[in-house]
Amino acid sequence: LDNGLGRTPPMGWNSWNHFQCSIDEKLIRETADSMVSTGLSSLGYKYINIDDCWGESNRDSQGNLVPKASTFPSGIKSLADYVHGKGLKLGIYSDAGTQTCSKTMPGSLGHEEQDANTFASWEVDYLKYDNCNNQNANLKGRYKNMSQALLNSGRTIFFSLCEWGQEDPATWAGSVGNSWRTTGDINDSWDSMTSRADLNDIWASYAGPGGWNDPDMLEVGNGGMTIEEYRSHFSIWALAKAPLLIGCDVRFISNETLAILSNSEVIAVNQDKLGVQGKKVKSNGNLEVWAGPLSGGKVAVVLWNRGSSQASITVDFADIGLNSSSVVGARDLWKRSNTSAKGKLTATTASHASKMYVLTPK
Ligand code: GLA
Repeated sequence: LDNGLGRTPPMGWNSWNHFQCSIDEKLIRETADSMVSTGLSSLGYKYINIDDCWGESNRDSQGNLVPKASTFPSGIKSLADYVHGKGLKLGIYSDAGTQTCSKTMPGSLGHEEQDANTFASWEVDYLKYDNCNNQNANLKGRYKNMSQALLNSGRTIFFSLCEWGQEDPATWAGSVGNSWRTTGDINDSWDSMTSRADLNDIWASYAGPGGWNDPDMLEVGNGGMTIEEYRSHFSIWALAKAPLLIGCDVRFISNETLAILSNSEVIAVNQDKLGVQGKKVKSNGNLEVWAGPLSGGKVAVVLWNRGSSQASITVDFADIGLNSSSVVGARDLWKRSNTSAKGKLTATTASHASKMYVLTPK
């Protein structure tokens, strides 16, 4: 969407993966504090996104959405002020239906203009727009209505479509939103994560500055995968130019989790200004090569071992847009070490682990 936002994939945090409906304004403030104190915000994680369950179950007498008095007594505008005061941005959630997915609050169907204006008046910066309880009304129309209402609201708001890949959003949402989910919900497991990666991959050619494929939010740090699996999750999301929305409790983040999410060289691949989604270029059983071009003629590569035992994986430069006799400098982004390679690069990779490189032709 040509609203000036999302020129690189959005980065931030969202409440859903860890907290579901157990959210309140204290959590949002403490999370904003932690995003700053951990250094995550200065690495680019700017959006603090409130997901489902922030509102009262009914609109007020004027038809406005109302923050839930028991959990958000100070209101959303005051949270936006707090978050903005820390140099961060605030995101909120609604639904293109009569109720949100949790069914605890109204959706925006038929109230698009009013709700967009409400969000703008609260100085919200990002809207995630879900697809539950939609009365089987025309899907594209429902998302276009909210997109237009946001554009008319007088505030520039990042628009994140969450229709779970129902109507191949990559093919039409580029003019409607800044990102679109390509899959159903992720959960904190290896199988879920790997299948989101594959489902998202087929739409790679549609992503670019202003509009990104979204394989759903990060589970890194939530406990259901190993450190190597989380490192693979983060590497592939970064390479695929996915939104990097942290989904763990950053108030109590472990050093290991923080080290993954804070790898500035992996983040730099995600935020590279060329904005081309890296994709799976080759697989041999469970051994996969994912790659994509970066600005300045560089190439990002992930060697991903999805099998159950250690294996060696080779990337042939001819498969990733380089000359088969090219000599490159190879930066290992997790080891943070340099080697050089000619024509191909081979690495031994543990089960479920990945190696990630940036190759710079010499
Ligand atoms: C849907 C979305 C999730 C989350 C929940 C909230 O399942 O896909 O990301 O927002 O709704 O209820």
